[in-house]
Formats: sequence, structure tokens, C-alpha cells
Amino acid sequence: MIRAWAPGRVNLIGDHTDHTGGLVLPMAIDLGTMVSGTRGGDVVELRSPIEPEPAIVPLDLADPAAVSPGWARYVAGVVAELRPTVGFSGSVRTTVPVRAGLSSSAALEVAVALALGFDGRAIDLARLGQRAEHRASGVPCGIMDQLASAGGVVGHALRIDCTSLAVQPVPLPDDLEVVVVDSGQRRELATSAYAERAAACQAAQASIGPLREATLADLDCLTDEVVRRRARHVVTENARVDQLATALTTGDRSSVADAMAASHRSLREDFEVSTQVLDELVDRLTSLDGVIGARLTGAGFGGCTVGLVETGALLPDDLTSWRIVPSAGAHLLDEGEGPQQ
Ligand code: GLA
Repeated sequence: MIRAWAPGRVNLIGDHTDHTGGLVLPMAIDLGTMVSGTRGGDVVELRSPIEPEPAIVPLDLADPAAVSPGWARYVAGVVAELRPTVGFSGSVRTTVPVRAGLSSSAALEVAVALALGFDGRAIDLARLGQRAEHRASGVPCGIMDQLASAGGVVGHALRIDCTSLAVQPVPLPDDLEVVVVDSGQRRELATSAYAERAAACQAAQASIGPLREATLADLDCLTDEVVRRRARHVVTENARVDQLATALTTGDRSSVADAMAASHRSLREDFEVSTQVLDELVDRLTSLDGVIGARLTGAGFGGCTVGLVETGALLPDDLTSWRIVPSAGAHLLDEGEGPQQ
């Protein structure tokens, strides 16, 4: 029996920066996806207790986006990228809430790739998962979700430079905890809105070069007001990733709070991916005792917020929240072994 585990991820800061080679600070979380089963045959067949229909994917399939049901497309994307020579039969179980912005699809892609026999570096596993996601969903996502899932480090966030793909683990201080709160709003229109935002960033790069190297002064050359605001989010957000990574290392709580507040504001006003529900939740969280900072996390348009709180701080009972343990990246499990957290 093969058992492959891949975690979801939460991003502390650095949203909508990965698709222009920017900086991000995600971590692998202790919610994840397990693919268990045996190799054999010439299809990949997986069942999931939360899906009415199984994923049945022939090894020689042509177009992952044409597969149904919808969740099987992610399995098909991995099959199309990995092209295993032997099939697989088994089950998928996940503790990552689906469509909540915690990368349930990346966890599925990465776990399926390991179960089907991918053997190599975390970065190559992440690239394969990213290509599978492009093929399955058509969303032109960056590398953050798959790389956080494949390359997580226990007790650490990961500062990822999405140009060089260098990963630098940043330890989380003992006196802070990461709390994710579900807004309850499921992501809507995320595919087209994400692609539109990514296209605006590409338009900015076509006139002023890589946003990763741009300064605020460079943005004055952008004549389209919307493109300029999108680009301003990216340029300022890249700087905030290093601000937060440094503030975590030096224990500067007011800088942690400032970076997170400015990130949420920029995602709301310049990148326009927040919602009223997310804004109200962030306001409520930041007014609570023991909450240092909070912001929306991931693509936006609903989903979750991430907060840094004093260890042991209590949140109101009416919130659906998880205290996150920064966890190891995807791996195969031995008989009787649990995931590394
Ligand atoms: C989604 C994408 C990522 C990243 C985030 C926003 O999760 O899959 O690549 O762009 O949105 O930071």
C-alpha cells in the first residue's frame, strides 16, 4: 500500500506576486491530503468520500480540462504531466477545506504525483503540480501553492523568491501563533478575475520591465490607471514580504502589524481582490486582544484570512478557525506512520 501526504498552505504575506516572479512567505499547514492505494492497471482510479463520483483517468488521456467530474481534472493534469507507465487504484482523503483559499488543489496535485511515482526535488514536484493546475483549471497561477506544499519545513514559513526559486526558511517565533479564519464565503468568479489581474501585471511588465525590479517611480510611466494600481500592489507587496520576514526574526510586533495591515489595504484598494465579508472579518480580528495582525490570504474573492496572534490568544467561538502548525512538505508515509508536523 502506498500512502502519499501533501499539505495545504497558508500565505503569511506576498499575494499576487508569484506570477511576476516576486516574493512570497507561505507555509505548509497541518491540514492536508492523503492519497492511498496500490499501483497497477492502465487507469488512475481514485475515490473520495466528499465527491459523489470517482476520478477515472486513462494513462493516455489527451486533454485534462475535458475530464469530468471537475475534481478529476486535477488528477488528470498530473497524469498528463507525469505520464506514469502504470496506473493506480485507491482513495483520497483531505482535511483541507475545498475552495477556501488553502490550496486544496495544490495538495491534491502534489499528493497524486507522489503516489504515482514522482521521485525528485521539491522544486520539480512543485513545477509539475503547477503545470497540472494550468492544464486542469486554466488558471495561470504562480508556483507558490505547489512549492509550499512540496517544500514545507516544520516550524517555518518559506521566503520564496519566485524568480530564482530560492527558498529560505524563516522560523516562527515561539510567542506567536498563526491562525486561519474561514470567512465562509466560497471563492466566486475567481478564475476569470485571477486571469484578468495576471494580465494587467503582464501589461505593466510589457511597458516597464519586470515588476520584481520596478520602483514606485517607474510606475509613473504606466498610463492606464488600473494597470498602474495593480502594479503598485505588486511592487509594494514584494517589499512587505521582506518587512514581515525581518519583523518575525527580530520580534518587532508593530512592524508585523503594519505589514499585514498595509498588505490587506493594498489587496483591497489597488489589486481589488477583497470582499466586504473579508474586510469586516479582518477589522474584527485586528480589534481583538492578542491579535497582532490579520489580512486576507491567497487569491482573495472570499476564502480565508490569516492572522498572527499571541500564543494562546482566544478567538470568539462563532469564528471557524484553525491554529496552524507550520509543517513539513509532501512525503510518502511508511506503514503506521502519520504526517510530519
Ligand atoms: C492562488 C495562486 C497562487 C498565488 C495566489 C495569490 O493561490 O494559485 O499562485 O498567485 O493565488 O497570491
